[in-house]
Amino acid sequence: MSFLHWILFLPPQASTASKWIDQLHYAIITTTMVASTAVALAAVYLFVRYRRRSPDQLSVRVESPPWFEATIITVPLTLFLAWFYVGYVGFVRVRRPPPGAMDVYVMAKQWMWKFSYPEGPNSIGVLRVPARKPVRLLMTSRDVIHSFFVPAFRIKEDLLPGRYTESWFQSDLPGRYELLCAEYCGLQHSLMRGEVEVLEPSEFDRWLASQERGIAERQDMGGPIGPPASDQANLVAEGLRIAGQAGCLECHTVDGSPHIGPTWLGLYHRTELLETGQSVFVDEAYMTKSMMDPMADVVAGFNPVMPTFQGKLTAPETAAIVEYIKSLRSREYQSKPAEGPLYAPIFRTK
Ligand code: CUA
Repeated sequence: MSFLHWILFLPPQASTASKWIDQLHYAIITTTMVASTAVALAAVYLFVRYRRRSPDQLSVRVESPPWFEATIITVPLTLFLAWFYVGYVGFVRVRRPPPGAMDVYVMAKQWMWKFSYPEGPNSIGVLRVPARKPVRLLMTSRDVIHSFFVPAFRIKEDLLPGRYTESWFQSDLPGRYELLCAEYCGLQHSLMRGEVEVLEPSEFDRWLASQERGIAERQDMGGPIGPPASDQANLVAEGLRIAGQAGCLECHTVDGSPHIGPTWLGLYHRTELLETGQSVFVDEAYMTKSMMDPMADVVAGFNPVMPTFQGKLTAPETAAIVEYIKSLRSREYQSKPAEGPLYAPIFRTK
């Protein structure tokens, strides 16, 4: 294994997913290398053994026995199904963040990365996370398509303007890892680099506390120092302020009573019935889509009267509103573990 790791020039295995992905990689590389070597050797042997020995020699007609036919169908089919199974289970595992993961919002723009924590702080270029804890990334772009790629974690996910995409990782190995943009996004694409810094949990808590203290101090001083006020406030408070300004609260209540639109109380992680008869699980992606394209999935019983906020709300503003709606989960909802109906439960990881 370490030989394959070395010969394939792979970066360190710094996340839980990197081990699963590398194992699959090794298995496929080994099988294909062994099989293609066997085919090449057999070809050389058969060329020599059955070469044409005289100008008038004719090929013999070969009838293959049924057991031979059955074998060449069964063996590759079994291998194919086995790989599909391994690949599918692995796919579900790398796509579904475990419940209780820590959320970080990622915003990309030409040509930088910005990370916002629900507790309020944000950082540019460096994503700091605690070791041995799953981290879920909720990602969007302010301009063009970018792609979040951390080779040591074996994760790569596109960030799209006006939409949220999700990824997650858990690193058990404190250290600093390279973050690259893997989608050509303009002249300085190759310089759009960042870093993921995995800290011991105690160190991470200290860092987060120092950031929160910094925010509180800047607010006390009336805000001339540090980033503009919109960056300082807690995302939830910020979301409430923006929702008021943008007019969201004229149609959506936050106390559970129905109005022109569905109430925001307990909306997050609820399953809504749509006009079309389908149902939808309310997550970050659905809420963002509803703000950008409100006619797409109208909840049953409501008129399709919501205007689009595409171009009116920036990505960080949308994230703040989403975070505010999430804070409105009732106790009953909050006590339930986060789970979505995306994949069959038999493949759900713990
Ligand atoms: Cu951002 Cu390439």
